Amino acid sequence: MAGPSLPLASMSIPAAEVYAQQANPAFEAELAARTAFREAAFLLPHLRPGMQLLDVGCGPGSITLGLAEVVAPGQVVGIDIQSAQIEQARVRAAARGVATVRFEVADIYGLPFPDDSFDAAFANGVLMHLRKPVRALAELRRVLRPGGIAGIRDPDLGASLYAPTTPLLEQWLAMRVRVRQHNGGDPFLSRHYRRLLLKAGFVRAEACASVDSAGSLEEIHRHTAFLKAQLQGHARTVVAEGWMDQATVDAAAAEIDAWAQRPDAFSATTWCQAVGWRATESVRESGSVRRSKGAAKERGPFREYEIANLHCCVGAGVRCAGARPGTGRAAGRGIFRQTDAPDREFSARRHYRHCRPPDRAEAHRGVQAAGHNR
Ligand SMILES: C[S@@+](CC[C@H](N)C(=O)[O-])C[C@H]1O[C@@H](n2cnc3c(N)ncnc32)[C@H](O)[C@@H]1O
Repeated sequence: MAGPSLPLASMSIPAAEVYAQQANPAFEAELAARTAFREAAFLLPHLRPGMQLLDVGCGPGSITLGLAEVVAPGQVVGIDIQSAQIEQARVRAAARGVATVRFEVADIYGLPFPDDSFDAAFANGVLMHLRKPVRALAELRRVLRPGGIAGIRDPDLGASLYAPTTPLLEQWLAMRVRVRQHNGGDPFLSRHYRRLLLKAGFVRAEACASVDSAGSLEEIHRHTAFLKAQLQGHARTVVAEGWMDQATVDAAAAEIDAWAQRPDAFSATTWCQAVGWRATESVRESGSVRRSKGAAKERGPFREYEIANLHCCVGAGVRCAGARPGTGRAAGRGIFRQTDAPDREFSARRHYRHCRPPDRAEAHRGVQAAGHNR
């Protein structure tokens, strides 16, 4: 039997974007069992004690608390658009006695933090629900300090395997895709992470995948609990849109239970995960800059650039080849990316005056470590 039908919740999420699992206690219980060790394993090697970290769409905060332990004494902020989730997260933090974390209600599209606030940001199971993931990633990049990193992770439903299946089970699995698309998300988003991160203005993006498989009685039992909790949230849209009636949804839930009893049941879900780096240094200018595009020279008003790949760079206190010591000028050929239109990128040889390293020594190390000083 399917679990109790949940009310259609009123959403404060931007128009036409609906988080299907809002106010679904069974699903929230599944999220509460998640851990940083498991869900953020790809990000952990990049984290260091003392870092300030932001967890966006933190849900009940179970992963956030694990991340807080990793970066302590660094401060961690978890934000979520659902106030009920933030309340749960606060209770969980108090129960675990984690004092370096705080939770706030906020929207990923308009984070209530100044530029350059965090060393790392994390989003697990969030971007696939969004209509404008690049906008959200650009907002994450804004609140990261130069050299900061974003770790993002979502399942890709195009790489989700179930065996053996039945027609009704297949029908239900197809409904999950349909609901996500209908609600403004993209069930096949995470395979595109590298492109999306670069488009959002990150200068480097590396991706990998992990597979969440269930192939023993115990694992199938766990995965079935997740599937049925997820079904409860999705059923609201499926029934409201008239794609299935409640009796068919209940039959699909029973089919999941029957699948779980099979000694040969198997499932595997692929989670794509990526890390994006914000440039170690940025340049602000108010004038116009001449840029090369093929043979043509163009002029354009550019407010701020991030240096994605500058062969030769100098700013206040940053020494490197081609520099005129003490002038605060730089000269070099590099790839410049326009910060307020991150998909616009150009390569040019140019001079500039206004380096804005966060810290002189740190910027110097960053430039050398990134190999930009050759
Ligand atoms: C699948 S849950 C993942 C929760 C948590 N990251 C985890 O993995 O356990 C997705 C979360 O994103 C939140 N969310 C959805 N849209 C959001 C937005 N625009 N801004 C902030 N949070 C959002 C939801 O409220 C929900 O808690």
